Amino acid sequence: MSTLLWQKDGVEIDARIQRFLAGDDVVLDREFLRYDIRASREHARGLAAIGILSAEEFARIDGVLSRLDGDVEAGRFVLDERYEDGHSAIEAVLIEELGDTGRRIHTGRSRNDQVLVATRLWLLDRLDALRALCVDCARVALDRAADEMLQPMPGYTHLQRAVVSSTGAWWAAWAEAFVDNAWRARQTREWIDADPLGTAAGYGINLPLPREATGRALGFGRMQASPGYAQLSRGKFEMAALEAVGAALLDVRRLAWDLSLFTTSEFGFVRMPARYVTGSSIMPNKRNPDAIELLRASYAPVAAARAEIEQVLSLPSGYHRDLQFTKGPVVRGIEHGLAALALLPELLRSLEWRVEALDAALEPSMYATDLAIDLARQGIPFREAYVQAADPARWAAGDAVGSLRARVSPGAPGAPALDAVRARLDAIAS
Ligand code: ARG
Repeated sequence: MSTLLWQKDGVEIDARIQRFLAGDDVVLDREFLRYDIRASREHARGLAAIGILSAEEFARIDGVLSRLDGDVEAGRFVLDERYEDGHSAIEAVLIEELGDTGRRIHTGRSRNDQVLVATRLWLLDRLDALRALCVDCARVALDRAADEMLQPMPGYTHLQRAVVSSTGAWWAAWAEAFVDNAWRARQTREWIDADPLGTAAGYGINLPLPREATGRALGFGRMQASPGYAQLSRGKFEMAALEAVGAALLDVRRLAWDLSLFTTSEFGFVRMPARYVTGSSIMPNKRNPDAIELLRASYAPVAAARAEIEQVLSLPSGYHRDLQFTKGPVVRGIEHGLAALALLPELLRSLEWRVEALDAALEPSMYATDLAIDLARQGIPFREAYVQAADPARWAAGDAVGSLRARVSPGAPGAPALDAVRARLDAIAS
């Protein structure tokens, strides 16, 4: 580490302590570096607007930042232990290239608002990606729901056969879930869409920084006004984003559970495309649904990341270096969650039902509820109809499709209300 921004005469640097302080920060900051560069440019533009930088100095800073950004994108500049963190790297490059002009960039800002703004821009992009993935999942599920609403399958409660249902009804559940998850992503995005840049170390600064204009240039919806709250929001907003990813992954966990059951020999409802299936190292006969199981497990690192940040946030107000420990979990949790979700649309599209197994799993008892309701409709009090319909002598192999068509309560297979779900999907897709 050659460049410590805060190094002063007479302060001895201990390499071992510095390594501990830096941790994996330089590596993690690679995630945020391009966002930090973007925010640095807008901070410099703000300094030019209030006369701290001349127009010419701003142009030179802008030029170096653009080149650095291109170098980072192309892999020509890699953040490493030469720097304490990404913030130091940007300033070091500016000073190296521009001398005193570079030495002006940090006027009126702190690494405390610098890390906040870079992380926040990163989070906003990840929430956009989350929304898009949820939209893709919802679209596949909704199309299949529309196609398959009258394809019978057993409906279970307590994992016991209950009533005739349909594969379309199964899909419709996931479709609406992912529409909701997409909305959750957008609402979370709106909630955290606040610019912390210009709050400096958490107490503001004795300069009339054009914070509103800087925030607009960075694409933020609003300015985070209180410098104290900007600091309080570190970790809190990361948790909110992880919760949004987690909401989707929680549905994925249950979907994957269904599929792991449905692909067993005992159920045999689903044929998994070979590319999602692995073999066993010892049992030549095995075909294992590992991809589904890892999807099921994917909620765990997301929830764990949220919990890790929650633990870090046991702090008084203001900046504390502890907050650096929010970066690892947020990157790991969100990247893992998005990678899992990215597999899902294609997996859902390629699932094939084994219709003969679905049919074979339907049994006469599964029409008992239809029968009880039919009797009640004829005027028999429901509790009496229930007793009559419980008699196995009254059960007969029924007409599964007829049962589905007759299920006309809105949202059920006879009146599935998919148009309303599609309208919400279209509204969140754009
Ligand atoms: N790496 C630090 C973090 O993530 C950057 C901010 C450092 N600020 C400070 N006052 N030491 O929090």
